[in-house]
Amino acid sequence: MSAIQPDFRERGIKLRNKDTIQVTNNEYVLEERIPGGFQFRTWLVRRKKDGKHFVAKATPELSRMAGEIRAYMFFASVVSDFPRRYHPKIEAFDHESNVIRRGKKIGKINVILLKYYPHYSYISLEKLLKDKNCTSEVRKRIAGKLKRRIEKLHDLNLAHGDLHKGNIMVHKTGNGRIGVLLIDFGSSRFRDQHALSKDERQLQNILSELG
Ligand SMILES: Nc1ncnc2c1ncn2[C@@H]1O[C@H](COP(=O)(O)OP(=O)(O)O)[C@@H](O)[C@H]1O
Ligand SMILES: [Mg+2]
Repeated sequence: MSAIQPDFRERGIKLRNKDTIQVTNNEYVLEERIPGGFQFRTWLVRRKKDGKHFVAKATPELSRMAGEIRAYMFFASVVSDFPRRYHPKIEAFDHESNVIRRGKKIGKINVILLKYYPHYSYISLEKLLKDKNCTSEVRKRIAGKLKRRIEKLHDLNLAHGDLHKGNIMVHKTGNGRIGVLLIDFGSSRFRDQHALSKDERQLQNILSELG
C-alpha cells in the first residue's frame, strides 16, 4: 500500500464525490466510492451525456493498469477459450484522464472504465459467504464454475495473480442460474510458473471454504 499511496499524493489528487473525470471523449461524474478496492480507487460513475453508469478504476500505477488492459485485450482475442461471461467488459481506458473539481482541472489520473455490474444482482463471493444465506447446492455450483474459469485461464498461460473472494463476482439470475465473473486483472501474469502456482493455492483455499 505504501508503494501506491505516494503516487496519488505526488499527483495531489484524492478523488471525491462529484468530481468529474474526462475519459477519452466523454465526461463522467463520480457518484459513489465502491469499497473493497485496495490498489485501485474504484468508483461508480455516471456518463454525463446519457446518464449511463460505469465503474471507474483509478490506478496510480501504470504497470497495473497496463496489466489489466493486457488481460482484457487478450480475452477479446480468445473469446472461444475464455468467454465474455467470465469477465467484465472493458469500456475505455485513459492514462491521462483529467480530474475536474468545481469546474477546474486539478490533475490527471490513470483510469480503466468497466461496464457496471449492479450490486442488486451481482455480489462478491466474499460478501455472499459472509451473508451465509447460500445453500450448499449453490456453493457447489459456484465452486465448479470458478474451477472451470481458472482452468481455462491457466490453459492460456495466464495467471490471475490476486485470486481472492473479493475478486470474484457472483450473479444470481431470476431463473436460478448462477454466473461467476473473475475481476481485477491488474496483477495478472503470462507464462509465470510462480504466479500460476500461487493461483492454484488460492483457488484451493476458496474451494475448501465453498465445501
Ligand atoms: N464492473 C464492476 N461492476 C460492479 N462492481 C465492480 C466492478 N468492478 C469492480 N467492482 C467492485 O469494486 C471492487 C474493487 O474492484 P477491483 O477490480 O477488485 O479493484 P482493486 O484493485 O481495487 O481491488 C470489487 O471488489 C467489486 O466489489
Ligand atoms: Mg480487487
